[in-house]
Amino acid sequence: MDRVATPTPAVTHSIELQVNGTSHSLTLDPRVSLLDALRDTLQLTGTKKGCNQGACGACTVLLDGERVLACLTLAVQCDGRQVTTIEGVANDEVGQALQAAFIEEDGFQCGYCTPGQICSAIGMLDELRRGVPSAVTTHGASVPTALSDDELKERMSGNLCRCGAYVGICGAIQRAHGGSESGSQGDSQGNTARRTS
Ligand code: FES
Ligand code: FES
Repeated sequence: MDRVATPTPAVTHSIELQVNGTSHSLTLDPRVSLLDALRDTLQLTGTKKGCNQGACGACTVLLDGERVLACLTLAVQCDGRQVTTIEGVANDEVGQALQAAFIEEDGFQCGYCTPGQICSAIGMLDELRRGVPSAVTTHGASVPTALSDDELKERMSGNLCRCGAYVGICGAIQRAHGGSESGSQGDSQGNTARRTS
């Protein structure tokens, strides 16, 4: 039986994508999402495809340090910009602390949501550090650097976990946040964040 040829797109676009510190010259159909460019073109399969429609957060990566949903971002929008995926967070101090904390706090079961959870948490903790308010921050109040459970759950609400490992995920982020706030001091449960530099 003859194979059906994949139609060649009528229009392609050349971009320079900086991923985890490495530059990639790509020629893509302008409709290709950042998620598909990462997974299918660059073979960086650590970033997961869950819903592919912006509902689950599994595809979260950092774009110029801000968390974005790669399934809702066109690759051509990222021309010349810095993308960090889960494969690159080992170079990040907060990323290292989060990875260790997810293990120590049992922050995953199947692990499918975990790359997105960790990338999202890196971006979220940076937003907190910069004083970006959330929907539950009291209007007019200064943004607390302490991460209450309400703030944590609201700020991470875009990242779903089908296994329901939320207790461990929250514990891991709190542990890493305690580490990033105060070096290797303990958190409210008396745990000690393990930091690597
Ligand atoms: S795969 Fe992007 S939000 Fe679900
Ligand atoms: S650990 Fe399985 S989806 Fe989150």
